[in-house]
Amino acid sequence: MDNTSQILERSAELFAGQRLLLVNPPVDGLTRQVPADWHVWTWDYFVQQGLSAGLDETHLSFSHLCPQVDGLEGAILVMPKAIERAEFALAQIAPLLRAGCPLYLVGEKKGGITRAEKLLTAHGAAIEKLDSARHCQLWRCIVQDQPAPFRLEDWQRSIALTFPDQTVELVSLPGVFSHGRLDEGSQLLLEELAPLPPGKVLDFGCGAGVLATVLARRNPDTRFELVDVDAMALYCAEQTLLVNGVQAQVYPSDGLSDVHGRFAAVVSNPPFHTGIRHDTSIAEAFFNEVTRNLLPGGELRIVANGFLRYPPLIEEHIGPCRVLRENNRFKVYSAIAPG
Ligand SMILES: C[S@@+](CC[C@H](N)C(=O)[O-])C[C@H]1O[C@@H](n2cnc3c(N)ncnc32)[C@H](O)[C@@H]1O
Repeated sequence: MDNTSQILERSAELFAGQRLLLVNPPVDGLTRQVPADWHVWTWDYFVQQGLSAGLDETHLSFSHLCPQVDGLEGAILVMPKAIERAEFALAQIAPLLRAGCPLYLVGEKKGGITRAEKLLTAHGAAIEKLDSARHCQLWRCIVQDQPAPFRLEDWQRSIALTFPDQTVELVSLPGVFSHGRLDEGSQLLLEELAPLPPGKVLDFGCGAGVLATVLARRNPDTRFELVDVDAMALYCAEQTLLVNGVQAQVYPSDGLSDVHGRFAAVVSNPPFHTGIRHDTSIAEAFFNEVTRNLLPGGELRIVANGFLRYPPLIEEHIGPCRVLRENNRFKVYSAIAPG
């Protein structure tokens, strides 16, 4: 069981008989068996898939928006990795709770729970650390006055990005990759002007949708599909496509789990940088699986940190790997699936 679930289990008497909203939980023995009148909100498709066998749609929401559940007696937020996402989630949760209801925050010390007091100050009083074990802490505040209603537009950011051939508007939310700016790796990939093959193109790990938006406009014979595991990213990608007048299909997928059919090209600034310099297992799984989604002669075009040893893996699973572009940090690779 996850450490955060263990600390919640130790405090089970606090939650007994209460109708609670559980936000951003991991998938494990505890969260698979939440009480029947609880509701779970997740933005992680892996979690949604893991919990959907035991929870129906009326008790499990996968969305960038908090479900509007009536009659809640409290809420528990499992601390997200990005602090801005915790703020974004709390701003949505607090208005659903009446004055006097408890709002709990649980998480690992290395995951930022030590900032709980500051985070909860904006939403309630009587802030208290209730438990601390297994490198985790459980905090609580009591909601005071009815907080101001949540307004998505207060959190959504829109920036203009200028490329030599076009300007695009990028819509993003707190905690979505590279919020409010263009990532340096993605920029290098977009500097490459070699046309993409016509047909269906997959943008894997689309984030706020910048790659698909720019490349679809540049390659009018392509039809893009965009996937990401994160509901907040998917919402942003839909908005980015909409404001830039690009039509494409956007849907959730954990890795390539929900991607069907073969594509003329797959483009990505892939998510497998774990911070462990030589861990290439996630990348290898992706290069292996993506071969099933490439047409014969289809192109895989990715950008990655230059130090990651991807070319031998790409060559093993797909085909000869060329460096299309590089700078002192990133490389853009292209490989063509056997014809
Ligand atoms: C490096 S970011 C790139 C985002 C965007 N393409 C860009 O260039 O700005 C990687 C993206 O992969 C997503 N991601 C992480 N794990 C994933 C998974 N298992 N399946 C699908 N997408 C995933 C992240 O949510 C993130 O949006």
